[in-house]
Amino acid sequence: MIVGIPKEIMPREQRVSATPETVKKMVTDGLQVLVEKGAGTGSFYHDPEYQEAGAELVDTAKEVFDRAEIILKVKEPQFNADYGKNEADLMHRGQILITFIHPASPVNHEMVRKLAENGITALTLDAIPRISRAQNMDALTSMSTCAGYKGILLAANALPKFVPQIFSAVGMVKPINALIIGAGVGGLQALATAKRLGAITYAADIRPDAVTQAQSLGAKIVETGVPSEEAVGEGGYALQLSEERLAEERELLAPQLEQMDIVFLSALVPGKVAPILVTEDMVKRMKPGSAIVDISIDQGGNCEITPPGAVEVKHGVTLIGIKNLPGHLPQSATWMFAHNVYNLVHYLCRDGEIILDFSDEIIASILTTHDGEIVHQGAREAMGL
Ligand code: NAI
Repeated sequence: MIVGIPKEIMPREQRVSATPETVKKMVTDGLQVLVEKGAGTGSFYHDPEYQEAGAELVDTAKEVFDRAEIILKVKEPQFNADYGKNEADLMHRGQILITFIHPASPVNHEMVRKLAENGITALTLDAIPRISRAQNMDALTSMSTCAGYKGILLAANALPKFVPQIFSAVGMVKPINALIIGAGVGGLQALATAKRLGAITYAADIRPDAVTQAQSLGAKIVETGVPSEEAVGEGGYALQLSEERLAEERELLAPQLEQMDIVFLSALVPGKVAPILVTEDMVKRMKPGSAIVDISIDQGGNCEITPPGAVEVKHGVTLIGIKNLPGHLPQSATWMFAHNVYNLVHYLCRDGEIILDFSDEIIASILTTHDGEIVHQGAREAMGL
Protein backbone atom coordinates (compact mmCIF):
# COMPACT_ATOMS: atom_id res chain seq x y z
CA MET A 1 0.00 0.00 0.00
CA ILE A 2 1.14 3.55 -0.67
CA VAL A 3 1.42 6.05 2.19
CA GLY A 4 1.44 9.77 1.31
CA ILE A 5 3.08 12.56 3.31
CA PRO A 6 1.92 15.97 2.00
CA LYS A 7 3.49 19.23 3.14
CA GLU A 8 1.31 20.93 5.79
CA ILE A 9 -0.41 24.02 4.42
CA MET A 10 -1.81 25.76 7.51
CA PRO A 11 -0.05 29.16 7.74
CA ARG A 12 3.09 28.96 9.89
CA GLU A 13 2.73 25.18 10.39
CA GLN A 14 6.27 23.75 10.39
CA ARG A 15 5.52 20.18 11.43
CA VAL A 16 5.24 17.14 9.17
CA SER A 17 3.68 13.73 9.75
CA ALA A 18 6.76 11.55 9.10
CA THR A 19 10.50 11.74 9.76
CA PRO A 20 13.14 9.87 7.75
CA GLU A 21 13.29 7.42 10.68
CA THR A 22 9.54 6.64 10.54
CA VAL A 23 9.66 6.43 6.72
CA LYS A 24 12.31 3.74 7.08
CA LYS A 25 10.12 1.85 9.55
CA MET A 26 7.12 2.03 7.20
CA VAL A 27 9.22 0.75 4.31
CA THR A 28 10.39 -2.14 6.53
CA ASP A 29 6.71 -2.90 7.22
CA GLY A 30 6.19 -3.36 3.47
CA LEU A 31 4.63 0.04 2.73
CA GLN A 32 5.63 2.35 -0.11
CA VAL A 33 6.05 6.01 0.97
CA LEU A 34 5.59 9.19 -1.08
CA VAL A 35 6.84 12.47 0.43
CA GLU A 36 6.03 15.87 -1.09
CA LYS A 37 9.28 17.75 -1.73
CA GLY A 38 10.14 20.14 1.10
CA ALA A 39 7.51 18.64 3.45
CA GLY A 40 9.99 18.26 6.32
CA THR A 41 12.12 21.36 5.78
CA GLY A 42 10.33 23.41 8.48
CA SER A 43 11.20 20.78 11.09
CA PHE A 44 14.75 20.33 9.81
CA TYR A 45 14.18 16.96 8.12
CA HIS A 46 15.43 17.30 4.56
CA ASP A 47 14.51 15.72 1.23
CA PRO A 48 17.74 13.69 0.72
CA GLU A 49 17.25 12.08 4.17
CA TYR A 50 13.72 10.97 3.22
CA GLN A 51 15.03 9.59 -0.05
CA GLU A 52 17.81 7.73 1.71
CA ALA A 53 15.21 6.25 4.08
CA GLY A 54 13.37 4.77 1.09
CA ALA A 55 10.75 7.42 0.26
CA GLU A 56 9.88 8.56 -3.25
CA LEU A 57 9.92 12.36 -3.45
CA VAL A 58 7.12 13.90 -5.49
CA ASP A 59 6.74 17.47 -6.73
CA THR A 60 3.16 18.31 -5.81
CA ALA A 61 0.54 17.72 -3.14
CA LYS A 62 -1.85 16.66 -5.91
CA GLU A 63 0.40 13.75 -6.83
CA VAL A 64 0.53 12.65 -3.18
CA PHE A 65 -3.27 12.82 -2.84
CA ASP A 66 -3.83 11.12 -6.21
CA ARG A 67 -1.46 8.19 -5.74
CA ALA A 68 -1.47 7.39 -2.01
CA GLU A 69 -3.97 5.02 -0.41
CA ILE A 70 -3.23 6.33 3.09
CA ILE A 71 -2.60 10.01 3.81
CA LEU A 72 -0.79 10.99 7.01
CA LYS A 73 -1.16 14.62 8.09
CA VAL A 74 -0.63 16.74 11.21
CA LYS A 75 -3.53 19.19 10.87
CA GLU A 76 -7.08 18.54 9.71
CA PRO A 77 -7.75 19.07 5.96
CA GLN A 78 -7.41 22.76 5.05
CA PHE A 79 -8.27 24.91 2.05
CA ASN A 80 -5.45 24.56 -0.47
CA ALA A 81 -5.14 27.89 -2.31
CA ASP A 82 -2.95 26.37 -5.08
CA TYR A 83 -5.78 24.09 -6.18
CA GLY A 84 -8.73 26.25 -5.04
CA LYS A 85 -10.20 23.43 -2.96
CA ASN A 86 -10.10 21.85 0.46
CA GLU A 87 -7.63 18.99 0.94
CA ALA A 88 -10.69 16.82 1.70
CA ASP A 89 -11.73 17.38 -1.95
CA LEU A 90 -8.29 16.35 -3.20
CA MET A 91 -8.94 12.90 -1.70
CA HIS A 92 -10.83 10.03 -3.30
CA ARG A 93 -13.22 7.22 -2.35
CA GLY A 94 -11.71 4.49 -0.19
CA GLN A 95 -8.63 6.50 0.83
CA ILE A 96 -7.62 6.45 4.49
CA LEU A 97 -6.77 9.71 6.28
CA ILE A 98 -4.97 9.76 9.65
CA THR A 99 -4.62 13.16 11.35
CA PHE A 100 -6.02 15.41 14.10
CA ILE A 101 -9.56 16.15 12.89
CA HIS A 102 -11.28 17.54 16.04
CA PRO A 103 -14.55 16.44 14.40
CA ALA A 104 -16.87 17.71 17.16
CA SER A 105 -15.60 21.28 16.84
CA PRO A 106 -18.17 23.35 14.88
CA VAL A 107 -15.49 24.92 12.64
CA ASN A 108 -14.73 21.44 11.27
CA HIS A 109 -18.25 20.19 10.58
CA GLU A 110 -18.28 21.19 6.92
CA MET A 111 -14.92 19.52 6.30
CA VAL A 112 -16.06 16.34 8.11
CA ARG A 113 -19.19 16.26 5.89
CA LYS A 114 -16.91 16.54 2.83
CA LEU A 115 -14.78 13.61 4.08
CA ALA A 116 -17.92 11.50 4.46
CA GLU A 117 -19.36 12.56 1.09
CA ASN A 118 -16.06 11.77 -0.63
CA GLY A 119 -16.05 8.26 0.86
CA ILE A 120 -12.90 8.76 2.93
CA THR A 121 -12.11 6.53 5.91
CA ALA A 122 -10.91 9.21 8.31
CA LEU A 123 -9.25 8.34 11.61
CA THR A 124 -8.80 11.15 14.15
CA LEU A 125 -5.79 11.17 16.44
CA ASP A 126 -7.48 13.36 19.05
CA ALA A 127 -9.69 10.38 19.99
CA ILE A 128 -6.93 7.84 20.72
CA PRO A 129 -8.12 6.35 24.05
CA ARG A 130 -5.81 6.91 27.04
CA ILE A 131 -5.33 3.14 27.59
CA SER A 132 -1.94 1.54 28.08
CA ARG A 133 -1.75 -0.32 24.75
CA ALA A 134 -2.47 2.93 22.88
CA GLN A 135 0.00 5.03 24.89
CA ASN A 136 2.66 5.09 22.16
CA MET A 137 0.05 6.33 19.61
CA ASP A 138 -1.22 9.16 21.81
CA ALA A 139 -0.25 12.20 19.76
CA LEU A 140 -2.44 14.49 21.87
CA THR A 141 -0.32 13.67 24.94
CA SER A 142 2.85 14.37 22.95
CA MET A 143 1.53 17.74 21.78
CA SER A 144 0.40 18.70 25.31
CA THR A 145 3.93 17.88 26.51
CA CYS A 146 5.29 20.30 23.88
CA ALA A 147 2.72 22.95 24.85
CA GLY A 148 3.54 22.66 28.58
CA TYR A 149 7.24 23.14 27.96
CA LYS A 150 7.05 25.88 25.34
CA GLY A 151 4.24 27.72 27.14
CA ILE A 152 6.39 28.18 30.25
CA LEU A 153 9.37 29.34 28.18
CA LEU A 154 7.21 31.97 26.44
CA ALA A 155 5.80 33.16 29.77
CA ALA A 156 9.30 33.32 31.30
CA ASN A 157 10.50 35.31 28.32
CA ALA A 158 7.65 37.80 28.72
CA LEU A 159 8.61 38.57 32.35
CA PRO A 160 10.61 41.70 33.10
CA LYS A 161 12.67 39.77 35.67
CA PHE A 162 14.79 36.69 36.42
CA VAL A 163 12.96 33.42 37.05
CA PRO A 164 15.47 31.78 39.48
CA GLN A 165 17.00 33.05 42.68
CA ILE A 166 20.12 35.04 41.76
CA PHE A 167 22.91 36.00 44.13
CA SER A 168 24.58 39.18 42.99
CA ALA A 169 27.12 41.60 44.45
CA VAL A 170 24.29 43.99 45.31
CA GLY A 171 22.10 41.43 46.97
CA MET A 172 19.77 38.54 46.32
CA VAL A 173 17.07 38.45 43.65
CA LYS A 174 14.09 36.37 44.77
CA PRO A 175 12.80 33.54 42.52
CA ILE A 176 9.43 34.01 40.87
CA ASN A 177 6.18 32.21 41.72
CA ALA A 178 4.46 30.14 39.04
CA LEU A 179 0.96 28.67 39.43
CA ILE A 180 -0.19 25.87 37.14
CA ILE A 181 -3.98 25.40 37.04
CA GLY A 182 -4.93 22.04 35.54
CA ALA A 183 -2.14 19.54 36.29
CA GLY A 184 -2.86 17.10 33.42
CA VAL A 185 -0.32 16.20 30.77
CA GLY A 186 0.40 19.79 29.69
CA GLY A 187 0.26 21.15 33.24
CA LEU A 188 2.68 18.59 34.67
CA GLN A 189 5.20 19.32 31.92
CA ALA A 190 4.75 23.04 32.64
CA LEU A 191 5.39 22.41 36.35
CA ALA A 192 8.55 20.43 35.63
CA THR A 193 9.81 23.13 33.25
CA ALA A 194 9.07 26.01 35.64
CA LYS A 195 10.83 24.11 38.44
CA ARG A 196 13.91 23.51 36.24
CA LEU A 197 14.04 27.24 35.46
CA GLY A 198 14.14 27.90 39.20
CA ALA A 199 10.60 29.13 39.90
CA ILE A 200 8.74 28.36 43.10
CA THR A 201 5.88 26.24 41.78
CA TYR A 202 2.23 25.96 42.84
CA ALA A 203 -0.48 23.76 41.33
CA ALA A 204 -4.27 23.47 41.43
CA ASP A 205 -6.38 20.64 40.03
CA ILE A 206 -9.72 19.09 40.94
CA ARG A 207 -8.55 15.45 40.55
CA PRO A 208 -6.74 14.03 43.62
CA ASP A 209 -4.43 11.94 41.34
CA ALA A 210 -3.30 15.07 39.51
CA VAL A 211 -2.66 16.80 42.85
CA THR A 212 -0.49 13.88 44.02
CA GLN A 213 1.51 13.97 40.77
CA ALA A 214 1.99 17.75 41.05
CA GLN A 215 3.20 17.33 44.63
CA SER A 216 5.71 14.71 43.54
CA LEU A 217 7.15 17.31 41.15
CA GLY A 218 7.71 19.62 44.10
CA ALA A 219 4.68 21.91 43.68
CA LYS A 220 2.83 23.50 46.59
CA ILE A 221 -0.88 22.81 46.31
CA VAL A 222 -3.54 25.49 45.99
CA GLU A 223 -6.96 24.20 47.08
CA THR A 224 -9.88 24.29 44.65
CA GLY A 225 -12.49 23.30 47.26
CA VAL A 226 -14.06 20.71 44.94
CA PRO A 227 -15.00 17.35 46.57
CA SER A 228 -13.54 14.40 44.60
CA GLU A 229 -16.97 12.80 44.00
CA GLU A 230 -17.92 15.89 41.98
CA ALA A 231 -14.53 16.10 40.29
CA VAL A 232 -13.75 12.62 38.99
CA GLY A 233 -15.85 10.50 36.66
CA GLU A 234 -15.58 7.23 34.79
CA GLY A 235 -12.07 6.23 33.75
CA GLY A 236 -10.58 8.80 36.17
CA TYR A 237 -11.31 11.78 33.88
CA ALA A 238 -12.33 15.18 35.29
CA LEU A 239 -16.04 16.05 35.34
CA GLN A 240 -17.67 19.30 34.32
CA LEU A 241 -18.39 21.39 37.43
CA SER A 242 -21.55 23.34 38.20
CA GLU A 243 -21.41 27.13 37.76
CA GLU A 244 -21.62 27.50 41.59
CA ARG A 245 -18.59 25.24 42.11
CA LEU A 246 -16.60 27.16 39.49
CA ALA A 247 -17.50 30.45 41.21
CA GLU A 248 -16.22 29.02 44.53
CA GLU A 249 -13.04 27.81 42.83
CA ARG A 250 -12.42 31.30 41.37
CA GLU A 251 -12.87 32.81 44.87
CA LEU A 252 -10.17 30.49 46.23
CA LEU A 253 -7.82 31.10 43.31
CA ALA A 254 -8.15 34.92 43.18
CA PRO A 255 -5.95 35.81 46.20
CA GLN A 256 -3.33 33.26 45.08
CA LEU A 257 -3.12 34.84 41.62
CA GLU A 258 -2.15 38.16 43.22
CA GLN A 259 1.10 36.53 44.45
CA MET A 260 2.05 34.98 41.09
CA ASP A 261 4.41 36.04 38.30
CA ILE A 262 3.37 33.26 35.88
CA VAL A 263 -0.08 31.68 35.73
CA PHE A 264 -0.25 28.68 33.38
CA LEU A 265 -3.79 27.62 32.46
CA SER A 266 -4.48 24.12 31.14
CA ALA A 267 -7.73 23.03 32.83
CA LEU A 268 -10.01 20.98 30.64
CA VAL A 269 -12.76 18.39 30.85
CA PRO A 270 -12.42 16.18 27.75
CA GLY A 271 -14.85 17.11 24.98
CA LYS A 272 -16.13 20.26 26.76
CA VAL A 273 -15.57 23.99 26.55
CA ALA A 274 -12.74 25.01 28.91
CA PRO A 275 -13.99 26.23 32.34
CA ILE A 276 -13.49 29.94 33.08
CA LEU A 277 -11.22 30.03 36.13
CA VAL A 278 -9.75 33.54 35.73
CA THR A 279 -12.00 36.57 35.21
CA GLU A 280 -10.97 40.00 33.95
CA ASP A 281 -11.31 41.31 37.51
CA MET A 282 -8.83 38.66 38.74
CA VAL A 283 -6.37 39.74 36.01
CA LYS A 284 -6.70 43.40 37.12
CA ARG A 285 -5.63 42.36 40.62
CA MET A 286 -2.49 40.54 39.44
CA LYS A 287 1.01 42.04 39.71
CA PRO A 288 1.88 44.37 36.81
CA GLY A 289 4.49 42.67 34.63
CA SER A 290 3.20 39.16 35.33
CA ALA A 291 2.18 36.73 32.56
CA ILE A 292 -0.66 34.33 31.87
CA VAL A 293 -0.31 31.55 29.34
CA ASP A 294 -3.64 29.97 28.48
CA ILE A 295 -3.14 26.74 26.54
CA SER A 296 -6.84 25.79 26.74
CA ILE A 297 -7.53 28.52 24.22
CA ASP A 298 -8.58 26.04 21.50
CA GLN A 299 -11.49 25.09 23.76
CA GLY A 300 -12.27 28.74 24.56
CA GLY A 301 -9.60 29.41 27.22
CA ASN A 302 -9.56 29.32 31.05
CA CYS A 303 -9.19 33.10 31.28
CA GLU A 304 -12.07 35.19 29.98
CA ILE A 305 -9.82 37.82 28.33
CA THR A 306 -7.15 35.64 26.68
CA PRO A 307 -6.72 36.84 23.06
CA PRO A 308 -7.26 33.75 20.83
CA GLY A 309 -4.15 33.02 18.78
CA ALA A 310 -2.32 36.16 19.96
CA VAL A 311 -0.24 37.80 22.71
CA GLU A 312 -1.51 41.05 24.27
CA VAL A 313 -0.83 43.10 27.38
CA LYS A 314 -4.01 43.90 29.32
CA HIS A 315 -4.11 45.58 32.76
CA GLY A 316 -0.29 45.29 32.84
CA VAL A 317 -0.40 41.48 32.43
CA THR A 318 0.94 39.71 29.32
CA LEU A 319 -1.74 37.32 28.09
CA ILE A 320 -0.45 34.54 25.83
CA GLY A 321 -3.16 32.83 23.79
CA ILE A 322 -0.97 31.27 21.10
CA LYS A 323 -2.82 28.29 19.64
CA ASN A 324 -0.19 26.21 17.94
CA LEU A 325 2.48 25.92 20.64
CA PRO A 326 3.85 22.55 19.41
CA GLY A 327 4.40 24.27 16.06
CA HIS A 328 6.87 26.55 17.91
CA LEU A 329 8.95 23.47 18.70
CA PRO A 330 8.70 21.87 15.25
CA GLN A 331 11.60 19.45 15.35
CA SER A 332 10.71 17.81 18.68
CA ALA A 333 6.97 18.03 18.02
CA THR A 334 7.43 16.35 14.63
CA TRP A 335 9.69 13.69 16.09
CA MET A 336 7.06 12.79 18.72
CA PHE A 337 4.06 13.12 16.38
CA ALA A 338 5.65 11.06 13.58
CA HIS A 339 6.44 8.23 15.99
CA ASN A 340 2.90 8.27 17.41
CA VAL A 341 1.42 8.08 13.90
CA TYR A 342 3.87 5.40 12.85
CA ASN A 343 2.92 3.29 15.90
CA LEU A 344 -0.73 3.53 14.85
CA VAL A 345 0.08 2.63 11.21
CA HIS A 346 2.21 -0.31 12.40
CA TYR A 347 -0.66 -1.47 14.62
CA LEU A 348 -3.02 -1.43 11.61
CA CYS A 349 -0.55 -3.00 9.18
CA ARG A 350 -0.49 -6.73 8.29
CA ASP A 351 1.95 -7.81 5.54
CA GLY A 352 2.07 -4.39 3.89
CA GLU A 353 -1.74 -3.91 4.01
CA ILE A 354 -3.77 -1.72 6.37
CA ILE A 355 -6.50 -3.79 7.99
CA LEU A 356 -9.23 -1.99 9.96
CA ASP A 357 -10.97 -4.14 12.55
CA PHE A 358 -13.94 -1.97 13.54
CA SER A 359 -14.56 -3.98 16.71
CA ASP A 360 -11.12 -2.95 18.07
CA GLU A 361 -11.46 -0.34 20.85
CA ILE A 362 -8.75 1.92 19.41
CA ILE A 363 -10.16 1.89 15.87
CA ALA A 364 -13.75 2.27 17.07
CA SER A 365 -12.76 5.39 19.09
CA ILE A 366 -10.87 7.13 16.28
CA LEU A 367 -13.07 6.23 13.30
CA THR A 368 -14.63 9.49 12.16
CA THR A 369 -16.04 8.89 8.66
CA HIS A 370 -16.41 5.64 6.75
CA ASP A 371 -18.35 4.43 3.74
CA GLY A 372 -20.08 7.78 3.22
CA GLU A 373 -21.17 8.11 6.88
CA ILE A 374 -20.08 10.27 9.81
CA VAL A 375 -19.57 7.68 12.56
CA HIS A 376 -17.70 9.59 15.33
CA GLN A 377 -20.12 9.81 18.25
CA GLY A 378 -18.99 13.25 19.52
CA ALA A 379 -19.20 14.70 16.00
CA ARG A 380 -22.66 13.19 15.41
CA GLU A 381 -23.94 14.68 18.69
CA ALA A 382 -22.39 18.08 17.95
CA MET A 383 -23.91 18.04 14.43
CA GLY A 384 -27.33 17.00 15.70
CA LEU A 385 -27.30 13.70 13.74
P1 NAI B 1 -5.55 16.83 30.45
O1 NAI B 1 -6.94 16.30 30.32
O2 NAI B 1 -4.42 15.89 30.61
O3 NAI B 1 -5.50 17.88 31.65
C1 NAI B 1 -6.50 18.77 31.98
C2 NAI B 1 -6.51 18.90 33.49
O4 NAI B 1 -7.43 19.92 33.87
C3 NAI B 1 -6.96 17.62 34.20
O5 NAI B 1 -5.96 17.21 35.12
C4 NAI B 1 -8.24 18.03 34.91
O6 NAI B 1 -8.44 17.37 36.14
C5 NAI B 1 -8.01 19.52 35.09
N1 NAI B 1 -9.23 20.29 35.35
C6 NAI B 1 -10.44 20.17 34.78
N2 NAI B 1 -11.30 21.07 35.31
C7 NAI B 1 -10.61 21.77 36.25
C8 NAI B 1 -10.94 22.82 37.12
N3 NAI B 1 -12.17 23.34 37.19
N4 NAI B 1 -9.96 23.30 37.94
C9 NAI B 1 -8.72 22.79 37.91
N5 NAI B 1 -8.35 21.77 37.10
C10 NAI B 1 -9.28 21.27 36.28
O7 NAI B 1 -5.33 17.77 29.19
P2 NAI B 1 -3.95 18.19 28.51
O8 NAI B 1 -3.56 17.14 27.53
O9 NAI B 1 -2.96 18.60 29.54
O10 NAI B 1 -4.40 19.47 27.69
C11 NAI B 1 -4.74 20.67 28.37
C12 NAI B 1 -5.15 21.72 27.39
O11 NAI B 1 -4.06 22.05 26.53
C13 NAI B 1 -6.27 21.31 26.43
O12 NAI B 1 -7.17 22.38 26.34
C14 NAI B 1 -5.55 21.06 25.13
O13 NAI B 1 -6.37 21.24 24.00
C15 NAI B 1 -4.51 22.15 25.22
N6 NAI B 1 -3.40 22.06 24.30
C16 NAI B 1 -3.04 23.23 23.69
C17 NAI B 1 -2.02 23.29 22.81
C18 NAI B 1 -1.66 24.61 22.22
O14 NAI B 1 -0.84 24.67 21.34
N7 NAI B 1 -2.24 25.70 22.70
C19 NAI B 1 -1.28 22.06 22.43
C20 NAI B 1 -1.66 20.89 23.16
C21 NAI B 1 -2.71 20.90 24.07
